[in-house]
Amino acid sequence: MKLQTKDLLTLGEIDRREFAHIISYATRIKKRSTNPKRLAGKTLAMIFEKPSTRTRISFETGMFQLGGHAINMRTDEMQLSRAETIPDTARTLSGYVDCIMARVYNHASLEDLAVHASIPVINGLSDSFHPCQILADFMTIKEKKRRMDGLKIAWIGDGNNVCNSMIYGAALAGSEIHVATPPGHEPLRNVVDTCRKETQVTLTTDPGAAAEGADVVITDTFTSIHNKDSDHMKKLYPKYQINDAIMKKSDKDSIFLHCLPAKRGIEVAASVIDGPRSAVWEEAENRLYVQKALLLLLVQ
Ligand code: CP
Ligand code: NVA
Repeated sequence: MKLQTKDLLTLGEIDRREFAHIISYATRIKKRSTNPKRLAGKTLAMIFEKPSTRTRISFETGMFQLGGHAINMRTDEMQLSRAETIPDTARTLSGYVDCIMARVYNHASLEDLAVHASIPVINGLSDSFHPCQILADFMTIKEKKRRMDGLKIAWIGDGNNVCNSMIYGAALAGSEIHVATPPGHEPLRNVVDTCRKETQVTLTTDPGAAAEGADVVITDTFTSIHNKDSDHMKKLYPKYQINDAIMKKSDKDSIFLHCLPAKRGIEVAASVIDGPRSAVWEEAENRLYVQKALLLLLVQ
């Protein structure tokens, strides 16, 4: 089965069946019940405007294991840094490689790449979305909870790029999501409105209410890779830290997720992220398998 979409920029491009298929394909790859090398002779161009550990290494390793090749390019090493346009870059790369994965500051740059590239473009994180992360998160949820639907997911922290994608993921999985953020830090309105047609999306400023009985408790750094923690943020966020008190409100079998990198003692207590309910290492490892499944499904 190929995906209907050429590009994966938000998760909004795929339907429930495709979402479930990517995750079950990734699970088969992880269990080695399938070991495709179908990307021999294929090349992935990886463009990074910002640093990365998991995204870069899981995509590069994934391409290698599938028989293909990946080229890593920091934008300061490309003519993009000397004012070559995104459309010209997209057209040029389309003549050389079979897929582009890009991590960008502005989501609009990805949309521009996707419009002008004739090859698939995958979002490796933008200011608005992180779809690959959420595929790995739901693969982890399925492993731990044996299902992805009918669950209560509590997002507590900043309503950021990962949160926006988590809301899409909850809608695709058929689970409800309760998002607790400080006032003024809510997720994107259009994402909430779109996903409310598919599932319950509750916005609150009360972390305890979001956590109550939750099957999955999830957060992320309060500040994106490229931003510094401001004094304003430092004051706002202690209330939203995921600690033992918050985990106690969640279901007794709940799991904790975080896309990493994490700041212990800021958005999450060390006792939680390093504790028995944390599934963050499985979550990080699963990036490799969903990346491989996605590449196989997008690259012809
Ligand atoms: N979670 C994630 O995307 O990690 P990196 O920033 O290390 O790629
Ligand atoms: N929200 C974080 C995710 C890092 C993987 C950021 O944008 O930096």
